[in-house]
Amino acid sequence: MDTEDKGAVFCGGFKHFATQAIHAGQEPEQWRSMAVVPPISLSTTFKQLGPGEHMGYEYSRSGNPTRNCLEKAVAALDGAKYSLAYASGLAATVNIAHLWKAGDHIICTSDVYGGTNRYFRRIANEIGLNVSFVDCSDLEMLEAAITPRTKLVWLETPTNPMMTVIDIKACADIVHKHGEILLSVDNTFMSAYFQRPLALGADICMCSATKYMNGHTDVVMGLISVNCDKLYERLKFLQNSLGAIPSPFDCFLCNRGLKTLGLRMKQHFQNAMAVAQFLESDPRVETVLYPGLPSHPQHELMKRQCSGCSGMISFYIKGNLEHAQIFLKSLKLFVLAESLGGYESLAEHPGIMTHASVPEEDRKVLGISDTLIRLSVGLEDVEDIIEDLDQSLKAAHPEFTARN
Ligand SMILES: Cc1ncc(COP(=O)(O)O)c(C=O)c1O
Repeated sequence: MDTEDKGAVFCGGFKHFATQAIHAGQEPEQWRSMAVVPPISLSTTFKQLGPGEHMGYEYSRSGNPTRNCLEKAVAALDGAKYSLAYASGLAATVNIAHLWKAGDHIICTSDVYGGTNRYFRRIANEIGLNVSFVDCSDLEMLEAAITPRTKLVWLETPTNPMMTVIDIKACADIVHKHGEILLSVDNTFMSAYFQRPLALGADICMCSATKYMNGHTDVVMGLISVNCDKLYERLKFLQNSLGAIPSPFDCFLCNRGLKTLGLRMKQHFQNAMAVAQFLESDPRVETVLYPGLPSHPQHELMKRQCSGCSGMISFYIKGNLEHAQIFLKSLKLFVLAESLGGYESLAEHPGIMTHASVPEEDRKVLGISDTLIRLSVGLEDVEDIIEDLDQSLKAAHPEFTARN
């Protein structure tokens, strides 16, 4: 497969993305100093001209100038009317769940980030929200799970860590046939650069900005984008009332990260594609899960719904847990760590690390086995990335003397 100009390979990319990432919400005229780079506005409170007479800001939890800059930029990149920033991806998820009350029903796709699974199963369920886990890549199963009390369908696509691609538009069509149900999509793995869930019919696009949106592994943050005025007003109320907002410094950093999002995502795609092809042709590897590969079961859907793929690859190493452990411990360039989407390459063992909180029997059904390894392919030179994977595979499988 051609790996040139990946930003435009699938459905043409999003027009003016880089321009918006650099300029939307960043107008120097909004600052008295005409600063070209948005200042970090640390003040927790803002002077009022008379009681209740203010210039748009009162108290930094309810609104902050640096956060506002970031939220405007994110809205532009998600193709949304509004965006809101939170202290973490999970804080964004909690804010969304607070749109509903005890007795309401939520359908969450079965293969999601472990922390999302834990929140829905062990917290939301316990405060009376009724959450069912359903494989939403099976549209009949999704439709069958909808009840008169269903208020929210939660997707993550591609799923973490199995990289299953879910048809956002088809899910939106089903969900919206059944009245007032909202469709929320966790867009963390793709970022606004490769996938725009709102344009595909979703009502809410959320992500952990800790990953690609910030991209530098130095901020924990969540984002929500919506188009509906009423939904935005309610989420804005919850953002202030629940109080899980990010610091102005983190907003500054994430806003800065967005300036190179397009460049980074193109390179992540190019590097990941080369890595996926290397792993797929390697006898020490059982199976590679990467939607950019023509062998991926939803490759065609991916081409329809996204403009490319990120640096996220999962694969099964041949052998057993010991082989996976040796492989992970032998890596030199890849760092063995949780998280993803930064400039540096990371590797992890979902069964023991990110998805340890998913019950063992569910992990089995999902395919999160002892030999599953997840990579976040970074922006290093691809030859070095592949060399590191090769030497670690060698350490795990010394019986294979030469590749192929
Ligand atoms: C797909 C996905 N969604 C949500 C989250 C939660 O985000 P955060 O860690 O920023 O709270 C993560 C974290 O890894 C994730 O991978």
